[in-house]
Amino acid sequence: MAEAAKPPQPFTLRLRRYDPESGDAPYWEEHTVELAPHRSVLEGILQAKARFDGSIGIRCSCRAAICGSCGVRINGQPGLACHTHLDRALRSSRDGVIEVEPMGNMPVIKDLIVDMDAVHWKKIQRVTPWLINKEPIPEREYIVPRESMVDVTQSMACIQCGACVSDCLSMEVDPLFVGPAALAKSYRFVGDPRDAEQYERLKDLAEDPHGIYDCTHCFKCIDACPKGVAPMSQIMRLRRRAGADHHIEDRNNGLRHEEAFVNNIRKNGLLHEADLLPDSYGGKFHPRAVPELVSSLPAITKALLRRKVTLRKALLHEHRREFKGLRRYFDTIEGHEERYELNLYITGYDEDEEGAEAPTASSAAGPGDGGMPSAESGQPGQSPEESPTR
Ligand code: SF4
Ligand code: SF4
Ligand code: FES
Repeated sequence: MAEAAKPPQPFTLRLRRYDPESGDAPYWEEHTVELAPHRSVLEGILQAKARFDGSIGIRCSCRAAICGSCGVRINGQPGLACHTHLDRALRSSRDGVIEVEPMGNMPVIKDLIVDMDAVHWKKIQRVTPWLINKEPIPEREYIVPRESMVDVTQSMACIQCGACVSDCLSMEVDPLFVGPAALAKSYRFVGDPRDAEQYERLKDLAEDPHGIYDCTHCFKCIDACPKGVAPMSQIMRLRRRAGADHHIEDRNNGLRHEEAFVNNIRKNGLLHEADLLPDSYGGKFHPRAVPELVSSLPAITKALLRRKVTLRKALLHEHRREFKGLRRYFDTIEGHEERYELNLYITGYDEDEEGAEAPTASSAAGPGDGGMPSAESGQPGQSPEESPTR
């Protein structure tokens, strides 16, 4: 039997208010609204606006987690205001008050509204967000392998809310970084066999010092995304396509750095930072490494002073030891005949394949589902059994 709806109860919202045109500093303002606990934070804000202060700025449209307009930070975490229940938000609050502020990494236009044009959309435009079709155009239609479409489904799920951009740590230190949403968008076309310029797209993003190698794998965008797009995973796929498939050696040294990283761990068991930088540039005495070593001297000195690296360890490789099983990981991963691409977005069985042994879409893309969203629900955590897909 369906659970009876809970009656309305008071929720206090602490909203960050700011009007750049006023010349005043930002400030917090609290309003108590009365709503059933399953109603959304957006409904709470709209009630506060209707009852107490019509000047509260919030952007919204669909109220159904589809249009991506209502991105905000709730108790410090980015998300959709229309997709966050009040009771859940209350549970994650520090002091019993639900704190709502605008998304990060984008200028505030007013209160909870940020300037998406200035950052998010500009970056999306940067990656040529449309298909450049192959010639000649077929008389009827392009026939695309099913697996290829499964491969790009995850990036196609993006609703352009900007939550990943809001929390991207690389973008915080390098505002020119192309960023998680735009790079995920780029994979949508790089992974599409109908696109004629996959190599050019990859070359462009590998050579750009703010491109695919500017991501620091912090996972923030994966946590932030309300649609399970996993932008960081799409960036890693762009890198694999650029490096392993097209052998693009970028001038930023991104590919060599990645290779040096893997070889360093293979050789040492643990990351041996003292070797990483010179190896990334071809070895300690490679002409390319010298200027980099010189320019990194302040960082090296800091690391020595903080004992992150000691001269003894750096020179004598004292830390090197065999890690049981480590080589097995390398052998297993490198021994695959085909590379697994972990598109975890779609899980389930084809309805017309009764008794099929493996989940169709996810097996086409790679093993495991990791509790990611199903195609039907768009919600994390639904298992294939719970969610048969088309
Ligand atoms: S993983 Fe990369 S793209 Fe994603 S938030 Fe971190 S730095 Fe940004
Ligand atoms: S990738 Fe996710 S978080 Fe980023 S804009 Fe798209 S839907 Fe929003
Ligand atoms: S109002 Fe459309 S996603 Fe929230």
